[in-house]
Amino acid sequence: MKNILILKGNIIFTKTSDRFEICKNSYIVSVNGKVEGIYKVLPEKYMDCTVEDYGDRLIIPGFVDLHLHAAQFLQCGMGMTNQLLDWLNDYTFDLERQFQDVEFAKEVYTQFADKLIANGTTRACIFASSSTKGTEVLFDILKQKGIGAYVGKVNMDRNAPDFIIETTEESIKGTKYLIEKYNNEKLVKPIITPRFAPTSTDELLEELGKLAKVYNVPVQSHLSENTDEINWVQQLFPDSRKYLDVYDKHSLFGQTPTVMAHGIYLDNSEIDKVKRNKVTLVHCPDSNINVRSGIMPLRKYLNMGIQVGLGSDIAGGHKIALNEAIVRAIQLSKLLSMNQPEYEPLSVSEAFYLGTKGGGQFFGKIGSFEEGYCFDALVIEDDRLISDRYTLKDRLERFLYIGDDRNICARYVEGNKL
Ligand code: GUN
Ligand code: FE
Repeated sequence: MKNILILKGNIIFTKTSDRFEICKNSYIVSVNGKVEGIYKVLPEKYMDCTVEDYGDRLIIPGFVDLHLHAAQFLQCGMGMTNQLLDWLNDYTFDLERQFQDVEFAKEVYTQFADKLIANGTTRACIFASSSTKGTEVLFDILKQKGIGAYVGKVNMDRNAPDFIIETTEESIKGTKYLIEKYNNEKLVKPIITPRFAPTSTDELLEELGKLAKVYNVPVQSHLSENTDEINWVQQLFPDSRKYLDVYDKHSLFGQTPTVMAHGIYLDNSEIDKVKRNKVTLVHCPDSNINVRSGIMPLRKYLNMGIQVGLGSDIAGGHKIALNEAIVRAIQLSKLLSMNQPEYEPLSVSEAFYLGTKGGGQFFGKIGSFEEGYCFDALVIEDDRLISDRYTLKDRLERFLYIGDDRNICARYVEGNKL
């Protein structure tokens, strides 16, 4: 039996970053969770199917958040005068510790998941905490909610308070347990998650690299976010010429699909390696600003053909809504262009692409409405006074800039309505 879903409305998506595909007043057909086609006139064979008619509303791909920390959800908008390493010590570690308490984890992760989904994120790469039990709670909540995600237990075995680090053996054992339990899930799957180089021993990274290869699991971490962090990595790993070599040496840099948050301070040889190893970088504009890490030279990476997505990086970023990250990416690119006349700011379609198909490629055929793509979609409702007067492109831009969860009236993941 085929599972057929048909929506009608104003369909907007980006196949390439340079322009929007706009199908006014059209039908989009999803068969077994995959886009089958977009039609101005519904084909004969679908005549008997029910159509969910969204009238003049917009239908867009769901947002993809390639980097955020579920265990930092309560901390959004706090400690924002600190830079990264102080912020971790003063705020983050103690909060993450509390996710050893399963009841606390249930309460916070439920709120987190509801908020993420309400704001239109349909796929996400998520850091949990170092607690295996707590991370299990997050897997189960996300599964139950129907969102698509990679979820990582955070591995740390040094250079953080005792209450949050584990021994190398404990950290590996918990990771292996979660991989074996969830690796065959369809929508919510494990990802190997060393927090970042400084809180990892070589032994931990080596064992994680082996797990990644044996179980064919993807990898996520942080890379070159802050200058103090980079200097610290240099001291801790004197044998590695560059920060990314610490990961690469242990098969955690593209040996399986890899996504690295930030990558702000990469020299040309490092950028070449990111490209060669097909590592995806995540631009987290709010986080870049809040903890004053620096601004990712996004245009340079795009010009060089690096795969890039967007991340809210809550709680380095303060807002979970990805439309805010899309807008902030545009705004930051404008700031850069003011000091560097040759820097071309991001267009709306480029930023939208990054927040949908650009990040979505890490999950597979996600983030577009081309044939064969997973049907992950949002239905956007705006003000009648606006919809009567403006083009569809203007209405989408307005939603990105000033819209929020109240404008999202339906959400679909692989053809299922959430
Ligand atoms: N680097 C290591 N841990 C973190 C974290 O929790 N947030 C951010 N933004 N960077 C990190
Ligand atoms: Fe982060």
